[in-house]
Amino acid sequence: MSRIIIFTGKGGVGKTSVVAAHALRAARGGMNTLLVSADMAHNLGDVFEIRTHGERTIAEDRLTLLELDPGKIMREDYPDLNRSIVEMISSSARSDAVGSDFMFPGFEDLFMLLGIRDLYKSGAYDLILVDCAPSGETLSLLKLPELLEWYMEKFFPVGKFMTRVLAPVSGALYKVKLPSSEAMDQVSVMHRNLVELQALLKDPENASVRLVTLPEKMVNEETKRTYMYLNLYGYHVDRVFINRTLPPQPDNPFMENWREIQRQYIEEMERVFTYIPITKIPWYPEEIKGIASLERLAAELPENEELFAVRPQRAQGAPETDVDADGTLYGGPEVYEATKEGYLLKVSVPGAESAEVKRCGQDLEIRVGNQLRIIPLPSTLCRAQIVKTEVKEGVLQAAFSLGQEAP
Ligand SMILES: Nc1ncnc2c1ncn2[C@@H]1O[C@H](COP(=O)(O)OP(=O)(O)O)[C@@H](O)[C@H]1O
Ligand SMILES: [Mg+2]
Repeated sequence: MSRIIIFTGKGGVGKTSVVAAHALRAARGGMNTLLVSADMAHNLGDVFEIRTHGERTIAEDRLTLLELDPGKIMREDYPDLNRSIVEMISSSARSDAVGSDFMFPGFEDLFMLLGIRDLYKSGAYDLILVDCAPSGETLSLLKLPELLEWYMEKFFPVGKFMTRVLAPVSGALYKVKLPSSEAMDQVSVMHRNLVELQALLKDPENASVRLVTLPEKMVNEETKRTYMYLNLYGYHVDRVFINRTLPPQPDNPFMENWREIQRQYIEEMERVFTYIPITKIPWYPEEIKGIASLERLAAELPENEELFAVRPQRAQGAPETDVDADGTLYGGPEVYEATKEGYLLKVSVPGAESAEVKRCGQDLEIRVGNQLRIIPLPSTLCRAQIVKTEVKEGVLQAAFSLGQEAP
């Protein structure tokens, strides 16, 4: 069975470089590897210094590159869906503005996901690495099946009924052409496929997300938020890469000062990702382009056995005391459970009897002994009041009430 690893992070942090190094390592380690770019600003070709042309391109033995083109997936693999969309649009007044390549906002994501699903289903690869667009866009991509499910539940039964009853008359009466029932059936299949893909992407045995970040204030902030949202949606983050870390340069006070600044942000990341292994990557004097520079980056990654190990996600919110091969203590991610008043946040604090909880800006600071853990909070909880905190069997539970505004 294939496995999918999704890479995301702020624009320009080194996602493509890091995922390309993974691809090289996986392929050379004997895995049949596909590296797909789901970032519309594709640049796999530049990094591998080969020509890519919208088709699968063999970079070397066992390593295939593919820059996904949602328009092409729509036209070639889902033509009925495409036709019905064009049909619907062109029956409206401004038909002249709509070509056959028309995409509703959000539809690129949809076809991108369908493309990834089909590649997974083909079973042709041991490992599928996905180079994603910057964090915000990745989140809307990963949220899409849920959003669509809501939409389908609310409107689809009606939509299907309308098609059956109104299709013969709608053209004449309303100057609106409803999609054919075949097209609607195809929508239904597409929906099922997306829900299936979502379940697969949320299963740690099949898929995980890796974050790429830099030791800088703004990038750290975005990384914390992305991590929090991924947790909230139930995706499994299994490794973090801190790119562009500076080597010691004792004779250079300018660089030493920057190194000190980086050190603070690296420490902050270590407090956020208490249970997730972090890999630091040095800042090289040149950009990463071509196989030799990818090999150099790949040498910084842990051994394949560890790099591609499936890190099990434990029962959510359960106490954890396991220690990984690299000595990292890990547990499940923090979980949010909806309650009558608001939310109950559950965080593993292995072995702890008590914890001190304090809100600091948009983060929650949890102190256990001399350890400080930072949990970035979703915006809905930033103004909620913490009404109760307790530690039960190694799990900190913080109850948030949405009723009262915090002072
Ligand atoms: N560790 C590094 N040292 C030097 N240059 C780097 C490093 N990581 C990335 N780069 C360069 O930074 C730029 C952005 O990297 P890229 O991997 O394309 O980021 P992203 O995919 O996140 O936008 C590229 O020019 C790349 O060669
Ligand atoms: Mg990129």
